This record gives sequence, C-alpha cells and structure tokens, in this order.
Amino acid sequence: MSDLIIAPSILAADFANFGEECRAVEQAGADWIHVDVMDGHFVPNITFGPATCAAIRPHVKGVLDVHLMIAPVDPMIEAFAKAGADILTAHVEAGPHLHRTLQAIRAAGMRPGVALNPATPAAAVAHVLDLVDLVCVMTVNPGFGGQAFIDMRSKIAELRAMIGPRRIHIEVDGGVDTTTAPLVTGAGADVLVAGSAVFRGGSVDDPAPYAKNIAAIRRAATSVMA
Ligand code: DX5
Ligand code: ZN
Repeated sequence: MSDLIIAPSILAADFANFGEECRAVEQAGADWIHVDVMDGHFVPNITFGPATCAAIRPHVKGVLDVHLMIAPVDPMIEAFAKAGADILTAHVEAGPHLHRTLQAIRAAGMRPGVALNPATPAAAVAHVLDLVDLVCVMTVNPGFGGQAFIDMRSKIAELRAMIGPRRIHIEVDGGVDTTTAPLVTGAGADVLVAGSAVFRGGSVDDPAPYAKNIAAIRRAATSVMA
C-alpha cells in the first residue's frame, strides 16, 4: 500500500462555502475530503454533523473521509451512513466498546477507521485490526486545526509492523506540511490529512494556491516512500 493519498481537512476551509471549497480542492489534486466532526464533549470544540456531511456529499466526487471526534459514537452511525460517508473513523478513547462500534460501522455499509490520540499506544488497536480499513494516528491533540505536529513516528512504524500484509491505510492527522509529511510517510503512513497546509493562501476566488500546496506536500511526502 504505497500510493499516497492526500485528504484536505475542510476544518481549514471557508465554512460559508463548503461545496465550492470541496470542488476546488478536488480540482487541485485532493484524493479524499476529510471531514472533522466535533461535539464539544469528546473534544473542546464544535464543528458540524451529519446534515453538513449530507450537504457536502454532492460536491465531492471522491471519498468522503469522516473523522468523528464525538462520544458516544454508536447512536450517530446510521446518520453518517445516510449522509454518504465512505469512511467513518471513531476514536479508541470514545467509548468502552470499540469492537462493537467498528462492526456497526461496517454493517451500516461504510469502511471503518480507528483513530488514536497522541497518548494512546499502538497496542490499543491490536485486537481490532481485522475490523478496520484505516488507522488514524493523531499527531496533535484533536479539537483544532493549525496546531504544532507531535512526532509519532515510532507509533506509525509499530502499527505498520502490526498490520503486516493486511490492506489497511495508516492516516496521519495534525500538523502535516511539507516538513512533517516525509517524516510520517517514511515511517509507514500512506494517507495525509492536511488542513492549514492545503488551504493556506487560497480561496474559492483564488484556488491556485491549493494546487501548489497539494503538489508541494505530495512531492515532499513521496520523496521518501518505498
Ligand atoms: C484536528 C483535526 C484535523 C485538523 C488538521 O482535531 O482532526 O483534521 O483539521 O488540521 P491541520 O492540518 O491544520 O493541523
Ligand atoms: Zn481529522
């Protein structure tokens, strides 16, 4: 699994213009669109929910990668399936029944992902690897865009070894830019979420910087990939 996927986070987009922003970043070379759902309880910030995902869906040609920073997760799974999420990622720390949650996401027709906060060890997902398509390694404490990268290279490498021949993406989320991207792809990540580093300097009226930013991250990241 060595094809690099770049997933811009619309947390850094213009909140009054999600449809156009999604079309602009896809046009600029984004592979997936990353949607950060926050509940003001699991994380100290509130963003948006399934209704916003459903509104965005028709504007996204590719994969809608939905990152749930909410607790509890299970009561909301069906709503995100109806909203058109392709990947639905739940946090290890969001509840006591991760195994059940991941089974429920698959049963609802989506690809399950599991996310780990910086303080959570790789071993926390050892017994759910057969249930997921993606492991998301947080390189910031979730809740806000634009935070400084926390080095999780040893966790990424440990996860890559644990995953072995399974076809599971390792996604890295938080503080990814042209400097940090090669560090994490070098350790075994293949999906890069980037908010600030993609949307920086551009807008729907002037989207040229988006393509430049995505190309720069891709160039830096792939320079070290096998
Ligand atoms: C953090 C979110 C991230 C965030 C990344 O809670 O999960 O997806 O938007 O933003 P940057 O790339 O600005 O760190
Ligand atoms: Zn995210």
